[in-house]
Amino acid sequence: MFILNSSDPMPLYKQLYNQLRERILSGKLAANSKLPSVRQMAAELSASCNTVDGAYQELYAEGYIYSRPRSGYFVSTIDQVAPHSLPGKKGNNNLVAPSQSRFAYDFHPARLDPDSFPTELWRKCLTEGLRRNSQEFSHYGDLQGNWGLRCSIHSYLEKSRGVTCDPDQIIVSAGLHQSLEIIAHLLQEKHTMVAVEDPGYHLPRAVFQNHGYTICPVPVGTGGIELCQLRAGSATIAYVTPSHQLPLGYVMPVANRLALIEWAESGGRFIIEDDYDSELRYQGNPIPSLQGLRPTGNIIYSGTFSKILSPELRLSYLVLPYSLLPKYRQLYRGYNCSVSLVEQGAMGCFMEHGHWERHIRRMRTVYKKKHDMLLRSVEAHFGKRAVVIGQGAGLHVVIRLPETPCSEAEIIDRAGQKGIRLLQFSDFRVTGHPEAVTLVLGFGGMVGNEIEQGIALLSRIC
Ligand SMILES: Cc1ncc(COP(=O)(O)O)c(C=O)c1O
Repeated sequence: MFILNSSDPMPLYKQLYNQLRERILSGKLAANSKLPSVRQMAAELSASCNTVDGAYQELYAEGYIYSRPRSGYFVSTIDQVAPHSLPGKKGNNNLVAPSQSRFAYDFHPARLDPDSFPTELWRKCLTEGLRRNSQEFSHYGDLQGNWGLRCSIHSYLEKSRGVTCDPDQIIVSAGLHQSLEIIAHLLQEKHTMVAVEDPGYHLPRAVFQNHGYTICPVPVGTGGIELCQLRAGSATIAYVTPSHQLPLGYVMPVANRLALIEWAESGGRFIIEDDYDSELRYQGNPIPSLQGLRPTGNIIYSGTFSKILSPELRLSYLVLPYSLLPKYRQLYRGYNCSVSLVEQGAMGCFMEHGHWERHIRRMRTVYKKKHDMLLRSVEAHFGKRAVVIGQGAGLHVVIRLPETPCSEAEIIDRAGQKGIRLLQFSDFRVTGHPEAVTLVLGFGGMVGNEIEQGIALLSRIC
């Protein structure tokens, strides 16, 4: 007997999914036993077919059940049970990785094309890096990262991103969170308040909050972070995404960039420029960095390999202004670089042989096709109901739905039941609510007809 509670904030399909999953894992539902049909189960529970179908689809996608043509769904044979999901159950202690839930249509904006990682080239670069650096494996490397890789990053930044720096200023890090940890640590002696874009990326808020900083949300307009409001506040550090604002996609015009630099310089303040995906611009050239406008200014530049190559490599970098280097070296004396030299060596070879720049060009073509397909699908299925924002770059676009009668939560819930994964736009917000329901539509991980089909399905539930 399954019990669904409509006053529980958890969606009904998820409640049913959890109860079925628990019974499958505990063996109460035997392997190969047949599940009631969607209709039967819906009637038994006095629930809608959508609710049951949503639960079955998720169980199916995760491999808990399988289907036989014209016969329905059956319980899969699962002989390795995740022990942590069965409190108190003794016996099988084999640890298995928690399965990642898979959606038929995953609009998560941080997903990359699943077929584009250059596995063969990477393997060659790994081998070459191992050969080249084998002498280095007997001791701890440079705190700031492998010198060869830093030189390659330096040439790339100078040539393609308009960043002016020396390899000495570059720190190889294991992702934005680590870069921000370093910055928070470096600046905490004299700074206590950080301005963040609202809406904006959640991670800077979390990291700076964890370091005891006060977070000052500043609204974002079409020209990026609102400078009047920034000036009116007391923050002395500003985290910005000027070349592709996350999530709205706006580009900060040069006049605003110069005014932001002036804000920083006039009061010993700092700008953190997160240049996370500027390589992916589909109209015109990539927007040059803000750092290049004032290389000697108080600008900390952050970049990553996560958007073009893979977020799983955990490879990113920081460019510190010279003014912060002595403090960095003093604070981190005795620390070691947290990125494996094996991966750094491979990345160094990848860049040196020109694979990185070729891969960027390739990925730009791949994602432009997906981006254009998304825009065409939105136009075809939403028409005038959707206002598109921030198109022309990156791995997502945003749509506003001024006329929808549904709330964001309802849309996300219904989308989940149809196998569509959407991120909550409200998660990007620090304060207030957007004037209209806003959806972030990532297209990077979608393949085949998924974009078209997913948008068609989504348009019917909004
Ligand atoms: C705004 C922004 N900056 C940076 C990153 C990349 O972070 P990392 O280098 O930790 O993968 C992301 C990833 O989604 C992002 O959204």
